[in-house]
Amino acid sequence: MAERDGREGVGSEAGESREGGFEPRIVAFICNWCTYAAADLAGVSRLQYPPNVTNIRVMCSGRVNPMVVIRAFAQGADGVLVSGCHMGDCHYISGNYYARRRLLVLKALLTGLGIAPERFRVTWISAAEAADFQRVVTEMTESVRRLGPLTMFDGGSRVSRESCPVLEGGRE
Ligand code: FES
Repeated sequence: MAERDGREGVGSEAGESREGGFEPRIVAFICNWCTYAAADLAGVSRLQYPPNVTNIRVMCSGRVNPMVVIRAFAQGADGVLVSGCHMGDCHYISGNYYARRRLLVLKALLTGLGIAPERFRVTWISAAEAADFQRVVTEMTESVRRLGPLTMFDGGSRVSRESCPVLEGGRE
């Protein structure tokens, strides 16, 4: 999987780099029909992106309940990405329109809670835009790395990937 999906440097678990520095954990909820295909294309095209991202395939961005985003943060994610089809391209007609509205409110809520806006990102990436997927996850990993670990939910202790159903659930 690691070879195929283009993630570079696989072997160091997110949370700590080989050098002992902070490596963020990013959970990406990505639509099966567009962004997931873009991630796959990135791998096939050998476009490398950071191994910090755990991709979770969903059938539509409209299926991403805000609670799973909050749960991902609460269970150890330092950043969460939601990405779906471009407006007008949703395979379920209006799923991404609902997602856009819902996730905009969620972003405001998370910011109000003290979670930096850089930690939660919503994008629209089509199946052909592998380079955009690579750019987004690379930028997000770098910005979250600069912010450091998100500790507001765990009192400063890191949640292990093994004990986290959200992070663990994204493995293939
Ligand atoms: Fe991709 Fe709805 S099917 S966002």
